[in-house]
Amino acid sequence: MKTVCLYYSRTGRTRSVMERMAKMLDADLFEYTDGKDRSGVKGYISSCLDSYGKLPAVEVIGGEPEWDKYDRVIVAMPVWAESTCVVGKAFLKQYSSKFRGDLYLVVTHMSRADYGIPIAKAYAYSAVRPKGYLSLQTKNHDCGVEIRDFVKKL
Ligand SMILES: Cc1cc2nc3c(=O)[nH]c(=O)nc-3n(C[C@H](O)[C@H](O)[C@H](O)COP(=O)(O)O)c2cc1C
Repeated sequence: MKTVCLYYSRTGRTRSVMERMAKMLDADLFEYTDGKDRSGVKGYISSCLDSYGKLPAVEVIGGEPEWDKYDRVIVAMPVWAESTCVVGKAFLKQYSSKFRGDLYLVVTHMSRADYGIPIAKAYAYSAVRPKGYLSLQTKNHDCGVEIRDFVKKL
């Protein structure tokens, strides 16, 4: 099974989760972005506002993976405003028809809630129905156990 992991990360939490997961799976790792500077308080506010606007155009940094090489795709994104972030939704909308094999979502958030319902809503943006998801609290929390459990069950 060859896996590709793709993530968007504003402040590095989703990146750190996916670096760990990719290492455990011996997967290739890519970052996607809408290219917008979302740093600091200004970036936080614009990200909140963008959550209610139209989806941005996104791209994979360094170029798209060769999708045919992978029989598993794991797409990760943070939660913004009680929903999966617009950059993640846009990524699914733009690229998911190219995925080959099984799709899984990883969604990171600050609160302890399980974001199963917002994640299920993100399925509407995907041409392929995800086989599963990981909803991961990142604040003051080492996610190692959850990441390992998720990987074991794949
Ligand atoms: C604009 C914005 C809105 C957010 N809304 C929520 C939210 O509704 N619920 C929550 O638990 N976390 C929320 N967060 C926190 C992030 O989801 C969380 O810190 C995430 O792990 C950050 O990932 P990143 O560092 O990869 O960007 C929000 C963060 C931002 C920037």
